[in-house]
Amino acid sequence: MFKPVHAGCLGMADIIDGDSIAAELREDLTAAVETLVDAGHRPTLATVLMSPDPASETYISMKQDDCEELGIGTRDVRLDTDAPAERLFETIEQLNTDGAVDGLLVQSPVADHVDYREVIERIDPMKDVDAFHPENVGRLVAGYPRYKPCTPHGIQQMLAATGVDTEGADAVVVGRSRIVGRPMANLFVQRAPGGNATTTVCHSRTEDLAAKTRQADILVAAAGVPELVDGSMIQEGAVVVDVGINRVERENGESELVGDVAFESARETAGAITPVPGGVGPMTRAMLLYNTVKAASLQRDIDVDLSAVGS
Ligand code: GUN
Repeated sequence: MFKPVHAGCLGMADIIDGDSIAAELREDLTAAVETLVDAGHRPTLATVLMSPDPASETYISMKQDDCEELGIGTRDVRLDTDAPAERLFETIEQLNTDGAVDGLLVQSPVADHVDYREVIERIDPMKDVDAFHPENVGRLVAGYPRYKPCTPHGIQQMLAATGVDTEGADAVVVGRSRIVGRPMANLFVQRAPGGNATTTVCHSRTEDLAAKTRQADILVAAAGVPELVDGSMIQEGAVVVDVGINRVERENGESELVGDVAFESARETAGAITPVPGGVGPMTRAMLLYNTVKAASLQRDIDVDLSAVGS
């Protein structure tokens, strides 16, 4: 049964250090990569970038760097944003049939003339390390996931590492995105470790959001709205997970990175809270590496022990 976390010194929330939790997972993953390499196969991730969003280039570079650090092989395919959709589809098909490639992701958003749903459906579900393909979404919803989407899975592992028991807890997810909100809710309601929570999903049409969020023992803010959740919306001692990454202009003209939670105000009420940056972000990155290693293990039929990293 979930127990609210006691606030740390000075009555302020404990800070959940995603960087250090992720660093430990990465160490375990490095050992798993070595096991695969010793068995004759280097796990390999292919990333495809065809994005009008400059931030996507940074995200792709980080994913590539993460792989290299762990000894995971990489392919880094970049297409012009005005390339025809067929070009992207051919690239996906080539990578689907490339036996050396275990994981494949196409960074979203893609160029406006390409339908991202069509992109996802063309990715081989066994290589779908984002877990966005309908087959993988369906398996997750049905309760027998192959891969779990990286951000919700990272949050699940972060809660476990922090000693937060989700069983019987009231979990409230703010945001219903395909990438975070909906799969997070699906993981919380699963009859499995990291699940068994009574789960509410709030979204842009929710009435009296604060009344819902104040019910939460575990509150995941993933709406993409800067500082949407403040201390008055949080139950005393709750665990608050901030998925938002928003750049905002302050009155003094300087820009700042903030989450979906107003951190300073939330800290006074919450029992534990993730910072931005250094909270959910590193966990998401670690779980992409996990899925890549798992994809290699499944497709090569090589046993690796990943139980310390994910589920
Ligand atoms: N764009 C923002 N987050 C993600 C992600 O997790 N995967 C992909 N493919 N694109 C993204």
